[in-house]
Amino acid sequence: MSIAGEKARAALELTSSATRSEASASRDQERKMRLVQKLLVWGCVYAVLSTFVASSLLVSDQNSTDEARNSTQLLPRRALQQYSFPGIPLLALLNPSLRAAFVALQAWKAAITSDPNGITASWFGFDVCKYKGVFCAPPPDKSCDLVVAGIDLNHAYIGGTLPEKLGLLNYLALFHINTNRFTGTLPNSISSWQLLYELDVSNNLFSGTFPIVALSLPNLAYLDVRFNNFNGGLPDELFTKTLDAIFVNDNQFMGNIPQTLGDSPASVVVFARNKFSGGIPDSISKMGLTLNEIIFLGNNLEGCIPPKVGELTQLTVFDVSFNMLSGELPSSIAAMLSLEELNVAYNLLSGAIPSDICALPHLENFTASFNFFSSEADNCPALPSRGVSFDDRQNCLPGRPQQRTSAECSAFFQSEQVCPVARPPPIYPPYGYMSSPPYTYPTNIPSHNYSPPSKENETTPYEEDPSPPGSYSAPSP
Ligand SMILES: *[C@@H]1O[C@H](CO)[C@@H](O)[C@H](O)[C@H]1NC(C)=O
Ligand SMILES: *[C@@H]1O[C@H](CO)[C@@H](O)[C@H](O)[C@H]1NC(C)=O
Ligand SMILES: *[C@@H]1O[C@H](CO)[C@@H](O)[C@H](O)[C@H]1NC(C)=O
Repeated sequence: MSIAGEKARAALELTSSATRSEASASRDQERKMRLVQKLLVWGCVYAVLSTFVASSLLVSDQNSTDEARNSTQLLPRRALQQYSFPGIPLLALLNPSLRAAFVALQAWKAAITSDPNGITASWFGFDVCKYKGVFCAPPPDKSCDLVVAGIDLNHAYIGGTLPEKLGLLNYLALFHINTNRFTGTLPNSISSWQLLYELDVSNNLFSGTFPIVALSLPNLAYLDVRFNNFNGGLPDELFTKTLDAIFVNDNQFMGNIPQTLGDSPASVVVFARNKFSGGIPDSISKMGLTLNEIIFLGNNLEGCIPPKVGELTQLTVFDVSFNMLSGELPSSIAAMLSLEELNVAYNLLSGAIPSDICALPHLENFTASFNFFSSEADNCPALPSRGVSFDDRQNCLPGRPQQRTSAECSAFFQSEQVCPVARPPPIYPPYGYMSSPPYTYPTNIPSHNYSPPSKENETTPYEEDPSPPGSYSAPSP
């Protein structure tokens, strides 16, 4: 099974973190460091640019200044003597980026209503790099200070909301809050997270329409909003961004899957357990060079499986189970030469299961149960003898065990149409999306490229000790 395969399957489980399913926690930390070091190559330039923005926000914010004063009082006297000068508040001595981070994190702390594990109890004082779940990193050339480069509060069960001031964390490369109890939606201010690479807000109580703001992040590669209460349609633009992984499963999304799907360079896409209707877009065939895994499980998709799926030659997992797809299994599936897992169970498929599909060279698991197939090639029931898992129960296959009753089968065949075309689905635009002005990027942000972590050489050692002076520790698995 490919690494990507484990990712898509992991995404179907509530509390698994698909970002980490590929690696141990320590390898994950190494990966973060590598990402962060990359971003910091030019971080100082960005620091200069953002100084003015951060300072002006800070000065104009009386509440934050109060918070700052209160925090100062909490610091040990010796620390104060060491770092402050007469007449100059300690806050003035932090670098602008950490000052802004302090304001953002104190605002977030104030928006937290429950924290059963006491994680944010450590969020006091100016040393934001010592806050639990906050990850700072120094630039390699030591010419500027630490910045907050990662937030990792996975499995903290924290309740509350995400305040607008989080937008001040404009160096973030990673934002992971899997398995908490945050409500509301993502604030629009996070469009300032121009370096963000991974956004994981999965398994929370977020609601409303698709968080469009995520699509304004130019460096985002990993978008995970699964297991929330988001509703409405998916925006076309979700698939025209350069996202490598898209997890929208286990929400209340509805409407059709956008035709733009085929424009996505993603390697993993999981639509499972929403209310999508209409057909599987034909454009999917354009993802042939990049798509490793796609899971449509548990929606209301109907119509035929597009024969063009045969062009997905890199695909290892194809799961369309628990829908209302009809017609025959396209014989072109036999051209999906990388296929390991094929699941078409619980649909209205009929006709014959072609021999060439059961002969796919890398097949590990083929589930065809709960359809209306009426014949199958001999090499299909022989699959288990070559170690491949095969399930053809509850079809209309003569001579096979555990089939549907002949009454059930004949009733189906009397009403059967030959691969009816999917009804055009009702359109549910993501509310407000069409009417909002297009997002424009600030022009003064230097551009750079991360390469997807899964494609990097995972064993390359660092040139220098990457441990920041802060107290970041890898989150427990
Ligand atoms: C600062 O502390 C005072 C008293 O200790 C409290 O009344 C006030 O609300 C605090 N301000 C902030 C912004 O936390
Ligand atoms: C094969 O796939 C089906 C459907 O996803 C799953 O229920 C079953 O456990 C799998 N079998 C093996 C041996 O992995
Ligand atoms: C990773 O890099 C090391 C050292 O350069 C090399 O020996 C190894 O083959 C590489 N591994 C992969 C998977 O590219």
